Amino acid sequence: MIFYAIRLLPILIITGLVHLESFAQRITRGPYLNAVTDRSAVIRWRTDKAVKGLLVWSAEGMRFDKKIKEKIRSTEHEIKADDLVSGTKYYYRTASARDRRLTVDSAQFFRTAPLRGSQEPVRIWALGDFGNGSKNQYDCYRAMLSIAGDHLPDAWIWLGDNAYDAGRDDEYQKNVFEVYGRSFFQYTPVYPSPGNHDYKDKRENGASEIAYYKLFTVPKQGEGGGVPSETSAYYSFDYGNVHLVSLNSEEETENGFTVSDTLSNQVTWLKKDLEENRSTWTVVYLHRPPYTGAGSHNADIEKDLIALRKNLVPVLERYSVDLVVAGHSHVYERTYPLVGHYGPSNTFDPEKHIARYPVSGSKSQRGIVYIVAGSGGQIDNNEKGIPHPATAHYNNDIGGSLLLDFSANRLGGRWVSATGEVGDSFFIEK
Ligand SMILES: [Fe+2]
Repeated sequence: MIFYAIRLLPILIITGLVHLESFAQRITRGPYLNAVTDRSAVIRWRTDKAVKGLLVWSAEGMRFDKKIKEKIRSTEHEIKADDLVSGTKYYYRTASARDRRLTVDSAQFFRTAPLRGSQEPVRIWALGDFGNGSKNQYDCYRAMLSIAGDHLPDAWIWLGDNAYDAGRDDEYQKNVFEVYGRSFFQYTPVYPSPGNHDYKDKRENGASEIAYYKLFTVPKQGEGGGVPSETSAYYSFDYGNVHLVSLNSEEETENGFTVSDTLSNQVTWLKKDLEENRSTWTVVYLHRPPYTGAGSHNADIEKDLIALRKNLVPVLERYSVDLVVAGHSHVYERTYPLVGHYGPSNTFDPEKHIARYPVSGSKSQRGIVYIVAGSGGQIDNNEKGIPHPATAHYNNDIGGSLLLDFSANRLGGRWVSATGEVGDSFFIEK
């Protein structure tokens, strides 16, 4: 019987009675977009069987005449589309190189970043402490979509604690990839940073490495602008006229040095990167916040947060960073534009530490706005929940996420609450 079935197989395939699909690989994750720059994009996906992946792509309205085949069979696929034109929409298809049966999905597209330094408007969605599968997580996502309307985010930055509880692969699958769905991942490039929960599997469960580094490709070679970091732990890139820096507040990257050690490789790189940065807007994002009081963490008593303020904040001020976005504290908090406040909250003097706009002369006197957006899934606050005195606005009752809109001379921020309202808005003008 089996013998006859095998002999019949080619005939059945030719006559279409057996679909090749049944022998083909099945996509079990993605495709998803990483490291999209003004000239390249990385498309990743996972299949249930080890196959050689195939990616084809074309600019909108053109023929699908660009393709790359993988050389090695794997269930994890990662192909970089290169030599692209900035600010252009491309459609893509994935397949196994063997059966070449392309995925057909109108949501499979990406838009390359605008030309570096151009004045194109840019929308960024910043989300922190999200992947817990909670109703709040879904609500924050839906609320962002409803406020964003037709202008979906161009780039999606992750503020860490991306997948609870321990940042394992199956937690990323269930609490991240499946929550935001295939379509959104297919057209929204992710630029992540890690949080303590993304490290938990290694630190507490003895895992040899963390899933975060296997799952995401970051622009660490300077391919999107910025100084190459040569490590996936931290990196920078330009998106139009915005320079984005993803720092790692979790890892002791070398000899016990952290992001709060100004002689660490990370901060040495950061200084060089910011020194060379010519973008109008500079945004730094990392998991741990230098200023927080109303949430699940307290910047006055936690050693790592004290060290961030004392050591990292002066570096960020020196290079005129505009905005620092963090998570970790499971609330929303936004400070006034700050300058020169490195100590505990009882040393905060509004006259001295709030920078006034516009400040003529020194660029560094413009001040930095610090935002905690750590309630994209988690929502809780400590027993007191007293806001830091540098706080201009906070909300520790409901979850939310941050939409940032950049144009030539204006940065507008909106905190979109899980209930679908704009709970806070602010702007910075230059
Ligand atoms: Fe955290």
